[in-house]
Amino acid sequence: MRALLGLLALVLVPSVVASSALPRSTDVLPVHESRQSLPPGFVDVGPAPSDHTLKLRFALSQNDPNAIVDALYRVSDPSGSEYGLYLSKTEVEQLVAPKSAAVDAVNAWLQENSLSGAALTPAGDWVGFEIPVHQANGFFNANFSVFEHEQTKTQMVRTMAYSLPASLQGHVDVVHPTTSFPSPSLGGKGNVVGLQQRSPQTTKRTQPIIANRDLSSKCTNITDPECLQALYNIPSTPATNPDNRLGVVGFFGNSVPYSFVEQFLLTYRPDIDPSTNFTVDSVDGGINEQDGSDSSSEGALDIEYTVGLATNVPVVYVFSGALGDFDGYLDIVNHLLGEENPPQVLSTSYATEETSFSFAMTDKVCKQFAQLGARGTSLLFASGDSAAGCPVGNDTSYRVLFPSNCPFVTSVGGTELFEPEQAWQGSGGAFSNYFSRPAYQDAAVESFLSQYGDTNAGMYNRSGRAYPDIAAKADDYVIYAAGFTRIFGTSASTPVTASVIALLNDRLASAGKPPLGFLNPWLYSKGASALTDIVDGYSNVTCEGTTPPRGFPALKGWDPVTGLGTPNFDKLLAVLGL
Ligand SMILES: *[C@@H]1O[C@H](CO)[C@@H](O)[C@H](O)[C@H]1NC(C)=O
Ligand SMILES: *[C@@H]1O[C@H](CO)[C@@H](O)[C@H](O)[C@H]1NC(C)=O
Ligand SMILES: *[C@@H]1O[C@H](CO)[C@@H](O)[C@H](O)[C@H]1NC(C)=O
Ligand SMILES: *[C@@H]1O[C@H](CO)[C@@H](O)[C@H](O)[C@H]1NC(C)=O
Ligand SMILES: *[C@@H]1O[C@H](CO)[C@@H](O)[C@H](O)[C@H]1NC(C)=O
Ligand SMILES: *[C@@H]1O[C@H](CO)[C@@H](O)[C@H](O)[C@H]1NC(C)=O
Repeated sequence: MRALLGLLALVLVPSVVASSALPRSTDVLPVHESRQSLPPGFVDVGPAPSDHTLKLRFALSQNDPNAIVDALYRVSDPSGSEYGLYLSKTEVEQLVAPKSAAVDAVNAWLQENSLSGAALTPAGDWVGFEIPVHQANGFFNANFSVFEHEQTKTQMVRTMAYSLPASLQGHVDVVHPTTSFPSPSLGGKGNVVGLQQRSPQTTKRTQPIIANRDLSSKCTNITDPECLQALYNIPSTPATNPDNRLGVVGFFGNSVPYSFVEQFLLTYRPDIDPSTNFTVDSVDGGINEQDGSDSSSEGALDIEYTVGLATNVPVVYVFSGALGDFDGYLDIVNHLLGEENPPQVLSTSYATEETSFSFAMTDKVCKQFAQLGARGTSLLFASGDSAAGCPVGNDTSYRVLFPSNCPFVTSVGGTELFEPEQAWQGSGGAFSNYFSRPAYQDAAVESFLSQYGDTNAGMYNRSGRAYPDIAAKADDYVIYAAGFTRIFGTSASTPVTASVIALLNDRLASAGKPPLGFLNPWLYSKGASALTDIVDGYSNVTCEGTTPPRGFPALKGWDPVTGLGTPNFDKLLAVLGL
């Protein structure tokens, strides 16, 4: 399987080709994208072998790149007249179609250079082609080199800068992969590892058992489906609409054997049909291996807390074989955009440093997410498990993660304990340096900023898109992954929240109403009153120069640890008029 895919599968032997042998354009072309420094943990190993084949993609320029964003907000604003009137596949494709001049220019360029291109999306806004390194270096005035992630020894071919050939200027927005770096796994299998953390770790329960704690509470000793059902009023009754689906994203190395899920359900959902199962939607040749060799606790967690919680909602594991997460995100969203009926909810428990990806590329992928949102899919992403994150290298601020930084997705933070729930110390939360704050969260974030004052000013960008948006329990989850084990993380919070949304969509479908779609404009207005505001705890990071050794506090209203709060199914139903 490993050999099927992409660049990262290749074992790259640094070549001895001298840099002087690289053909370089004699024209002075403006630099289209560049990066000043490597993301943390990467080193330059040397020039890429000149005959190495690159699989490049162009994002073609569109007539109105913001048309999809406008459309997304129109169908997601609960006070608007078009709320819930989601776009069809064809309507989205028309909105994002490339300019005809861009199509002509790209076709002419490919033909002129005897390259064969293929449309990667139904709209034709992405085109892929293969090209050897020496040719790419010449055409794009680039220096494709081999970079290695030191800790994992993962190698990849990238360039620190590139230009566009004159005939493509104004027609191609991004060439990928160039200046964006994926985040290789740290200590796990596969190249992309989710955010889950094995217990025990630094963020274990810290609150002593308090005298009046209800020891019969379902959550006293463990977080399992029964605990979550009690805590968030999640119904155990089966959903009834087979067309209402819940997608779970998985990457290579995170296979989920059916037997794991069966074991989990037998123990923790004895009340449901033991044949309750999930299906697989394969992307990039991804294969959900059954022999356990490629399995991970991340995959098991994500599937067990959707199949085991969104009772009878059809769960589909959207499984990418891509060996790099950025291509994986892009391929998954493009794959789902190609489906007539993509899942109405998509849960993703993976994340990467904002700065790993170029702004132009991040903006493109974020707008692909907006396309899926405009179709009526709620996209939920884990906010990360490293609290606010300490500055690295020359950075002077807390760290920001993609995809939570994208304003068109819903970011899920973590809580712990239950009487009351408080912020989980690892819960990721930040303010993007790439995307400015969307209007839907202006009031909520301003309220936080005025309460927080000047503490740690300069460590975060007050004008950026702030996350998470919502939160759920992140502590003490039991999962089955070749044995029962305990897990922490926003990786758990995300499928749980996605399950709540999928069950709400089931009720909406029964009432003849459309699904919730892109959640944030609704969450920050009508939805907020149905969430439990988390006002205790903080995200704990011990970075130099922060006051005190902490990230952000959970405060009244929205905060960058627990967002607007945790879900309450019954209250959410009431707000929806159901
Ligand atoms: C290209 O990058 C390599 C390192 O990967 C470096 O040794 C070489 O000098 C660079 N060539 C040019 C022309 O910048
Ligand atoms: C939790 O664990 C304690 C100690 O093992 C046990 O006495 C108690 O019954 C358990 N509570 C629940 C609700 O399972
Ligand atoms: C779940 O589906 C898979 C694939 O169809 C099948 O092999 C497996 O036996 C099913 N599990 C149960 C418990 O029915
Ligand atoms: C930090 O900044 C200095 C000076 O601008 C630069 O030489 C160095 O490469 C930077 N280091 C990192 C890790 O970005
Ligand atoms: C802060 O965020 C804004 C977008 O809201 C961005 O334009 C600006 O460059 C960011 N500042 C820094 C220091 O990155
Ligand atoms: C915060 O994290 C540090 C380092 O991980 C740990 O030593 C400390 O105990 C934590 N603080 C609290 C209050 O848990």
